[in-house]
Amino acid sequence: MSFRLQPAPAARPNRCQLFGPGSRVALFEKMAASAADVINLDLEDSVAPSDKDSARNNVVAATHDVDWGRKTLSVRINGLDSPFWYRDVVDLLERGSERLDQIMIPKVGCAADIYAVDALVSSIEAAKGRQKRINFEVIIESAAGISHVEEIAAASPRMVAMSLGAADFAASMGMSTTGIGGTQENYYMLHQGAQYWSDPWHWAQSAIVAACRTHGVLPVDGPFGDFSDDEGFRAQARRSATLGMVGKWAIHPKQVALANEVFTPSETAVLEAREILTAMEEAKARGEGATVYKGRLVDIASIKQAEVIVRQSEMIAAA
Ligand code: COA
Ligand code: MG
Repeated sequence: MSFRLQPAPAARPNRCQLFGPGSRVALFEKMAASAADVINLDLEDSVAPSDKDSARNNVVAATHDVDWGRKTLSVRINGLDSPFWYRDVVDLLERGSERLDQIMIPKVGCAADIYAVDALVSSIEAAKGRQKRINFEVIIESAAGISHVEEIAAASPRMVAMSLGAADFAASMGMSTTGIGGTQENYYMLHQGAQYWSDPWHWAQSAIVAACRTHGVLPVDGPFGDFSDDEGFRAQARRSATLGMVGKWAIHPKQVALANEVFTPSETAVLEAREILTAMEEAKARGEGATVYKGRLVDIASIKQAEVIVRQSEMIAAA
């Protein structure tokens, strides 16, 4: 228990983050025309080292030239273990337009990583008189990152969102898989001779959700690599939504609609949540703290659960 109220995360839709390499300028207008809530222009692992400078220039130009509508515009910079990241930050903030909303910091391992980027960003913002404060989102994708996930979520008031990066995470943890998210063939339980597959990403996702919810940060599920497997994407996204995540990455445009579908509360879910709220209002009028809805217990905790769904639905509708 704590007397402190849990801080609310940013009230913005974050159902789908569409990625595109900063080196593929031809994709930018298509990304802007997509139905993704967040755009992530990438300077990191989808850009070859020889293309880093030109990709950075493309992305800086795109903060001026492309009409990103009402989307959140984010740029993934290179990791702090690279020779590229400081130049990414300097150029984005010195030469990029005020349209830029967010910087995504990959491979974060501890709170001091955020502190370092925060110091650089704060200094450039002050020097250049930038009006809009840049937000941060981070990727948890290493053993160090997941070990320090809570201090990372708390590291800066700029922190807005945190994603699980399944591929680098698996590599860093020494997991025996080359899959990017989803079901893994060898991760099953045996019961009476039958195999029951389990979810190897579950613990990391739950740790991220707990850290994010403690500090008012949006928890997001990362990439699902097999973009020809719609049902696999849906299943992974549904598990993430059930655990409290608010959205998922799309690494191909066909995944955008899938993410929006899963992370927009369905009409049925919203209707049921509203009925629970009404049932609890009626119970309260009778002086009762608990009642029966469709044959099951609902009580004061059910109000909070129902409000999560209704609030999310209203926030998305209003955006
Ligand atoms: N955003 C918007 N549109 C995209 C897109 C993206 N990320 N990727 C592809 N498209 C477009 C293509 O230009 C093509 O458009 P067209 O129908 O007008 O010709 C259409 O969607 C179909 O593309 P397709 O041919 O299936 O894909 P591709 O071979 O061009 O590219 C990938 C496939 C995976 C290489 C590409 O989607 C990609 O780079 N994804 C993002 C990778 C990334 O950023 N990774 C870092 C985070 S993990
Ligand atoms: Mg990665």
